[in-house]
Amino acid sequence: MSTIPDPAELLALCEDLARTAGEHARARTADHGGVARTKSSAVDVVTAVDEEVEALLRARLAELRPDDGVLGEEEGSVAGTSGLTWVVDPIDGTVNFLYGIPSYSISVAVVSGSADPLTWTAEAGCVHAVALGTTWTAARGLGAWRDGERLGPRPAPPLARALVGTGFGYTVEERTLEGALVAQILPQVRDIRRLGSAAIDLCLVADGRLDAYYEIGLNPWDMAAGSLVVSEAGGAVQGLTGGPASPAMTIAGGYDLVEELAAALRAAGA
Ligand code: IPD
Ligand code: CA
Repeated sequence: MSTIPDPAELLALCEDLARTAGEHARARTADHGGVARTKSSAVDVVTAVDEEVEALLRARLAELRPDDGVLGEEEGSVAGTSGLTWVVDPIDGTVNFLYGIPSYSISVAVVSGSADPLTWTAEAGCVHAVALGTTWTAARGLGAWRDGERLGPRPAPPLARALVGTGFGYTVEERTLEGALVAQILPQVRDIRRLGSAAIDLCLVADGRLDAYYEIGLNPWDMAAGSLVVSEAGGAVQGLTGGPASPAMTIAGGYDLVEELAAALRAAGA
């Protein structure tokens, strides 16, 4: 069994992987070839670049960390023996990427203990927003950074003055639920933003450009790196009733605001 490197070393590797993958995505932006296939619905799309970036990340990890597990959006899960799992989203914000909207990112995180957001310990993560030219990083116990600048806790407004990010799934069932929920939350907040990359949304909460964020139905790879950036920046990331964030619900923001938003979501029937 290989030894587990410290979070600083893992962070350097997350960033290196995300930046290398980012170069590939950048080179393929203008010529991505459109939709290669669809997943959960006709609008849940995958481009060749999603697949190429994930293959690139897996090849680098096989070389550098052969005993670690990998969980990725396009190719699923491969168990490891080291106790570490790399949780990767090759392009988070694929629809933005497809349309040439710059809000997409490569999200690379490494977790220990399990590959389940309810029980894992996130060790390090990097969200690299290739076309925005912004990179967020975090390592357990060491802090969070945007482009090398340390992020810290910031005062959050009450819910009534909060700018709240959210996102929607891809199926009719998910969207019907999410639409009903957002219709109840919108009148209670400053405004809602739907920017299209959950990983970036979480990082915007960490650096104060959103006050809070919530979403139902995130996958582990959407939230792994961004959630660590929020918590290492001094923010809260939780589920609907205060436990860990999970695919059921992810809520992020300053501690008091997250409590207020969670209560509003519960009252709205989430
Ligand atoms: C999606 C984005 C989006 C969120 C969806 C995710 P993808 O990931 O993060 O913002 O609302 O829930 O599935 O499909 O672009 O990798
Ligand atoms: Ca994603």
